[in-house]
Amino acid sequence: MVNNIITLKTGGQTGEGIAIRTLKTEHQAVCQMLNVLEKSVLKLELTGQVPLSIFDDVLEFLTVFVDRCHHTKEEEVLFPLMVQSGLPAESGPISVMLAEHRQGRELIARFRENLEMLKNGNQAGQPALIEAARAYCVLLREHIQKENRTLFVLANTIFDAETQQRIYETFEEIEINKLGAGTHERLHGVIEHLVALTAAWPGGDAGPDSEGCSCSCAH
Ligand SMILES: [Fe+2]
Repeated sequence: MVNNIITLKTGGQTGEGIAIRTLKTEHQAVCQMLNVLEKSVLKLELTGQVPLSIFDDVLEFLTVFVDRCHHTKEEEVLFPLMVQSGLPAESGPISVMLAEHRQGRELIARFRENLEMLKNGNQAGQPALIEAARAYCVLLREHIQKENRTLFVLANTIFDAETQQRIYETFEEIEINKLGAGTHERLHGVIEHLVALTAAWPGGDAGPDSEGCSCSCAH
């Protein structure tokens, strides 16, 4: 998938390429959903009353949009190309990013297990679900900041505009193959719905302009 699409930047080319801009835009969507999740677990903790369908929707987003799509673009395309261009695979920022993706998957698995307990009427799942959700939010926010501020800056200095265009086209193939037609748009609709539903709920105020939600994702 990633062979023979690299040409490196030469002097004088600056700015952000389309592939990195795409990943950063996806980070903004992830941050919106992390806010929804934080608000939902706070409300659950305070009142014990949150529709569990919200957690189902968040879980689908984290599983399908974040892990199956966004992380695949990074793991199968961007990171290998950065390794091809000279970055170490077994140490440094790429190995850290991959380790954090794995940690995220473990937390999602815990979240799913405890959500199932709650849906089956077992209230013992509630504190563990809240803990897993909060740990995931902390992990992903820090992870996104590292990518936006370090790895993506590096990628923009390495790959020229033509390479970024080819990477972007590969991302589009992943969208179709991993998500299927219309899923991306449907999940964005889910974000809008949940953001509106939780707008007045306390917490989760690490908005797109705050440090905690990767302020650099919009730039
Ligand atoms: Fe990312």
